[in-house]
Amino acid sequence: MSATIEKTTQQTAQSLTLRDLVKTYASRGRESVTAVKGINLAIEPGELVALLGPSGCGKTTTLRMIAGLETVTSGSIKIGDREISQLPAAKRGIGVGFESYALYPPLSVRDNLLYGLKARKVKGAEKMVSSISERLEMDDLMDLRPAGLSSGQKQRVALARALVRNPPVLLLDEPLSHLDASARNRVRRELKVLQREFGYTTIVVTHDQVEALSLADRLAVMDGGVVQQFGTPDEVFDDPANLFVAGFVGEPQINVVPGIARLHEGRVRVEIGSGAGYLDTVVTGVAEGARVTVGLRPQDCSLTARGTGGPGGLAATVAYFEHLLEFGLATSTVAGIEEGLVVQTPAEEDFDTEQEVTVTAAAERVYLFDPDTGERLR
Ligand SMILES: Nc1ncnc2c1ncn2[C@@H]1O[C@H](COP(=O)(O)OP(=O)(O)O)[C@@H](O)[C@H]1O
Ligand SMILES: [Mg+2]
Repeated sequence: MSATIEKTTQQTAQSLTLRDLVKTYASRGRESVTAVKGINLAIEPGELVALLGPSGCGKTTTLRMIAGLETVTSGSIKIGDREISQLPAAKRGIGVGFESYALYPPLSVRDNLLYGLKARKVKGAEKMVSSISERLEMDDLMDLRPAGLSSGQKQRVALARALVRNPPVLLLDEPLSHLDASARNRVRRELKVLQREFGYTTIVVTHDQVEALSLADRLAVMDGGVVQQFGTPDEVFDDPANLFVAGFVGEPQINVVPGIARLHEGRVRVEIGSGAGYLDTVVTGVAEGARVTVGLRPQDCSLTARGTGGPGGLAATVAYFEHLLEFGLATSTVAGIEEGLVVQTPAEEDFDTEQEVTVTAAAERVYLFDPDTGERLR
C-alpha cells in the first residue's frame, strides 16, 4: 500500500488503567441494570487490547465510560497518571470510532475527515487524511456525502476519522462488523499496522474471536459485566480460567463432558463415560470420586484405531467424519456420554463411520472445571 505516514503530531504512548469500574443504569419505573460489575484492566502504553464477549456482556458500556459518553457509577479510569473519569469527553484526549457517531451530512467524506484537524490547525492535515484514506481503501468515497454511503463505508469513515485525530487512546466498537469478508480482512490488517505505526493505546470491542485473536496483544474476555480473563491470545487459549472462557475462545469449540476424578500417583485421572476409559491430567487439587466437568479441545485430542493406542485413552466409535482441507473432524461417541466428542485429525488420515477408535490427549491439555461454578480446577 502507501508509504509510512508522516507523524506530524506523534504522541507518546500512554497507559490506560481501569480500576473497579462499575456502571449501573437506573431508569425510573424499571429495575436498575448493573451492566459493568467492577472491571480492572491495566493496559500498557501502545498496547492493543480486544474486549471480547457475547452480546450484552457490557463491552460498549465499558467503552462509553472510558470515552466519557456515559457517567461512571464508581471506580477509576486513568490515562497515564491522570484520572479522567470525571472529565468531559472532549477533555479526555480519546479518539472514538463508534458507529453511532454522526457525520456531518452536508460535508463530503474528505471534509468530514478534515473538519476536526482544520479546527485544531493541525499541520499536514490534507496529507494525513489522504494517506489514511488510501490505506483504508476509501479513495473512491472521499467526494461522496454521508447519506450516499453503505453501512460498511460509513464504518470505514468512522474508523478513519478516529485515526486521523491521532489520539493517545483509541477506542473502537465493533469497527469492522459491516464490512464484507474480504474487505474486513484487509482493513483489519491495515488497522493493526496503523496502530503499530502510531502507537495508540487501543481497545477494540468485538464479539468475533478471529478478529480479537488476529488484532490483539492481549484479550479481555468478558461475560456478565465481568472480565473473565485477561491475557495474550495464547494464554487464554492454552490456560483458560474457567469454562466460559474455554468455550468462548477456540474453533472448533471445546468438548465439554462430565467425568469422575480418580487419584493415581497423586494426580487426577478422569474417568469418562461408562467403562470407556480415562484420561490422565496434571490436576492435583480434586478429591477422589469428585464429579468434574472435563474440557477437551478438538485440536488437543488424537484418534487412533482401537488396539494400537498405549495405556489410557477413551474407547469411542466414529459417528461422523468430515474431511476438510487442512484437517479432518471426527465426531465420536463414547459409551455413557450423550455429547459427541469432536476430534481434529491430520489431513492425511481418514476415518470411517462406525470405526472403533481410541481418543487420547496430553495430560496437560485435559482441563477440569468445577461442575457448579465453572471455575478451573488445578
Ligand atoms: N442506556 C441503557 N439503559 C439501560 N440498560 C442499558 C443501557 N445500555 C446498555 N444497557 C444494558 O447493559 C447491558 C450491557 O450492554 P452493552 O454494554 O451494550 O453490551 P455489549 O456491548 O457487550 O453488547 C445489557 O444488558 C444492556 O441491555
Ligand atoms: Mg456493544
